[in-house]
Order: sequence, then structure tokens, then C-alpha cells
Amino acid sequence: MSVPRPAAVIVLAAGEGTRMKSSKPKVLHELCGRALVDHMLAAARGLDPERLIVVIGHAREQVQAHLDTTGSDALAVVQREQKGTGHAVRTVLESVGAVNGTVLVTYGDTPLLRTETLAELLATHAAEGNAVTVLTAEVPDPTGYGRIIRDTTGAVLEIVEDKDASPEQKAIKEMNSGVYAFDGLLLADGVKRVGSSNAQGEEYLTDVLSILREDGHRVGAYVAADHVEVEGVNDRVQLAFARRVLNTRVLEGHMRAGVTIIDPASTWIDVGVAIERDVVVHPGTQLHGRTSIATGAEVGPATTLTDTAVGAGAVVRNAVCEGAEIGAEATVGPYTYLRPGTRLGRKAKAGSYVEMKNAEVGDGSKVPHLTYVGDATIGVGTNIGAATIFVNYDGVNKHHTTIGDHVRVGSDSMLVAPVTVGDGAYTAAGSVITNDVPPGAIAVARARQRNVEGWVERRRAGTASAEAARRAAASQDGGSSHPEDLPETADQAGQAARSGERTPGSGK
Ligand code: UD1
Ligand code: CA
Repeated sequence: MSVPRPAAVIVLAAGEGTRMKSSKPKVLHELCGRALVDHMLAAARGLDPERLIVVIGHAREQVQAHLDTTGSDALAVVQREQKGTGHAVRTVLESVGAVNGTVLVTYGDTPLLRTETLAELLATHAAEGNAVTVLTAEVPDPTGYGRIIRDTTGAVLEIVEDKDASPEQKAIKEMNSGVYAFDGLLLADGVKRVGSSNAQGEEYLTDVLSILREDGHRVGAYVAADHVEVEGVNDRVQLAFARRVLNTRVLEGHMRAGVTIIDPASTWIDVGVAIERDVVVHPGTQLHGRTSIATGAEVGPATTLTDTAVGAGAVVRNAVCEGAEIGAEATVGPYTYLRPGTRLGRKAKAGSYVEMKNAEVGDGSKVPHLTYVGDATIGVGTNIGAATIFVNYDGVNKHHTTIGDHVRVGSDSMLVAPVTVGDGAYTAAGSVITNDVPPGAIAVARARQRNVEGWVERRRAGTASAEAARRAAASQDGGSSHPEDLPETADQAGQAARSGERTPGSGK
């Protein structure tokens, strides 16, 4: 199939989209990681057109701003008043001049239309030497669509709008998709001659077909194999339908390329996501934006990744990650929140109930439980004990914490930034670390424990606790163990060191 490069693709997107019932222009509603209009622009770009033009009108500031922020290469032409599809094309050609070559006209609200189908339309158009070739489809319910009127030989005569159609014409199931390949110069001439004496008082682009045919030019049709592809989105029910169809298409593409998707019904993957072979995606997973997953990784269940890179062989379960980089063979989750700027090294761990932001965790370092790591650099082979908080915010500014290699941070530590813990250092459990800890030191920053003997029996007499204490005292009296038999109380540093050594072990 030889596909001629179109001289221009014109995407009509000036309409209001009233049935969306939205303050947002219809073509900016999203599915599978892209706005409606961007799906059409992507399909059009696949044809490598010389010019890509979008007609904007309703809420054009918002649409233009969207095109700007997405860095679109499309030229926006403003149609101030929406006086019909023919008027929209006329406005473009008056703005950019008649286009010599093939002009493809399409809509901004048909996100399921594939480049391949557009290419087939162009190929048919070229092979048959037509002045215009319309993309049509047989649909179960053609209500609302223009109908394709053919003569007894099957040649296309004209397109009649639903509102202008006779009962016999309404019975025709072949609909006009609104997508056409035109000879550019004949199109420029044709749109000037379109009137507006019809049920809607609009300039119908469809009228160009009969005008060109009456001039003696060839008019053809290409029937799409799958009518679902050409059906547009007019309301949010159709938007959800299109999203489901497109998602299925995306998932099937990944599965055919070697990705295991356990439950396609509960898995949503945006069009921009890259997944390598032998990745397993568990149920309830959503992969958004520029997320990438390297070979052998397992993602899910119940995981939402946005713009996140997952390394080879990593495991990410029950997690929400945004703008994070997860190293090869790292483990994340369950119940983990990784925010932008998180970078986990090779074989690193972000465990359960752990939140991280703007944090670099070195190879093999572990943050296993109940911890917040914000604005930090952690070296290699370090363990952060359970319930540690990186206190990064002083109420006005954010500060950085630096933790060295092979550090053992005791459980329930507060690391008050800016602060540095040197290589191989320890912190005692329950410490509030406000000063730098030199390499190899243990930092102890907590009040010493004081036991007030007999307090419960004196002050909570008659309670179950007092009774339990009395029983314990009685059995001790009768037993062989006496307070004198206990080893001497360790000195303060020794005691601290013991708890410091023990604590990181709880974070394994
Ligand atoms: C149009 C076709 C109809 C076809 C149907 C397919 C005409 C006259 N009718 O009908 O045969 O079956 O599409 O969906 O073309 N637009 C503009 N400027 C305008 C008017 C429309 O940019 O002045 C854009 C809209 O944003 C929309 C598209 O063109 O994306 C179609 O417009 P719409 O008014 O919905 O046409 P239909 O009545 O659906
Ligand atoms: Ca429409």
C-alpha cells in the first residue's frame, strides 16, 4: 500500500461540545494520558503531514494554552463563530491559502481513530484518483450522523445530514465519519460554493462532495473495518466507552510484546507508558504519564505510578509513586508513597507506611517501616529504623539531611535538618538528632529512664494493674531471683550503646 504524504491535515476542534456539560472544552477532556485533541494530533502525525492545522473557536484561549504547554507543532487557526464544518475549513484556507496536494480533514473528538485507518483512506484516495474520498462506516444506530447516499452502482452521490434526511435516507446504516481526503485545490474551490440553506443554517463540508461530483470529479468512499474507531465522543458516557476501548488496545499491545497483565479489566495504562518484556502487572494497577518499567519487574496489586521509572527486577506493591526512580531489584511497599525526586538505588527498600520526597537512597539501603524521608541523601548499606522522621521543615524553609554509608539510625529517631550523620555512625532509639554525628559515633539524644518503684500499688491501689504488680512482687519474693542477683546497672554510655545497637535490628 503506497501512502502519499498529505500536504495538510486539518483537525476541526472549534465546537463547544455542549453535551459534555463541562466548563472545560470537550477536546481537552482526557483519556489514557492524553487530551482528546492530542490523540487525533498523534494519529495525524503518524502520516507525517507537511502541515498540521487545528481549528479552534469555542474556549480557544484554553485550547491554545493547552497546545502551547504540550509543545504542539500544530498551527491553530481561529474560527470565531462556529458556522459549520464547511465554514471551518473555509476559514483555514482563507488563513493559510489553498493547499496544493492532499488535504485530510478530521475531528478533534475521535480518539480511537488510528494512523493505519487514515493511511488506508489516503491510499484509496490516491489509488482511485478521487477528488474526495470520505471515510465511512456501517453502524448499528446511525441516528444523528450524516448518511452516505449511493446510486444503484454503489457510487457515492452525496451526504445527507440526519436533520435533513427523508425517512428512507434515515434507514441507511452507512454513516459519514466526518473524515475526508481531499484534493486541496478542489477543496478550496468547493468550500467557497457551499451554501447554508439547510435545517441547521450551517455551511456543511459534506456539501463539497456533491459540488465536486456535479463538476464531474471522482468522489469515493473508504469503509472503515471497525465502526467503533470512527465514532466520536460527544458526552461523558462516550468518553468512558472510548477510554475503555483505547485502554484495551494499549494493554493488548503490551501483552503481545511480552508483558503479563493479570487482570486487564482493572488495569489502566496510559499511551505514553513503556514496559519491557517479562514485567508482571498485578490487578488494580494504574500506570500514568511517562512511567517506564524495566524487564522482570513486578508492579501491583493496587499501585498507581505516575512519571515513575521502575528498574529491572524491582517489586512495587500497593504503592503510589509520582516522579520517582526505583532502582533495579529495589522493593517498594506495601503502602508506600514516593513523591517527586525520590531515587531508590539498586536493591534499596522503601517499606510499609513509608513516605519519601526529594530523597536519594543509596544501593542496598533500607527504609523498612513507618518513616518519612524528606529532602535527604542516604548513602549505601544504611538502615533507617522504624518510625524515623526526617524533620525537614522549620515552618518556613525546607532543609536537607545527609546520612552516610552503613549508618544505623535507631527506631523513632527525629533527624532535625539541616543535619549530617557520618559514615558508619549510629543513633540511639528515640533520639532527637539536632547536631551532626561524626563517622563511627553513636548519638544519644533522649532523657534517661527513671523507675519509681511501687508507684502503682501506692497511687493506683485497687486496680487490676496494682493487683498484677502485687502478684509479681509476691512470686519474686518466693522465687530464687532476688534484686541482688541482677547484674549491676550498666553505666549510661553502655546502656545507650546497647539500645543503639539493638534498635536498628528491629528495622530489618
Ligand atoms: C458532522 C457531519 C456529519 C457526520 C458527523 C460525524 C457535517 C455537516 N456533518 O455532523 O455528516 O456524520 O459530523 O461525527 O459536516 N466544528 C468546527 N466548526 C464548526 C462546526 C463544527 O470546528 O463551525 C467541529 C466540531 O468541533 C466537531 C466537528 O467539527 O469536532 C463536527 O461538528 P458537529 O457540529 O458535531 O457536526 P455533526 O453535526 O456531528
Ligand atoms: Ca459530532
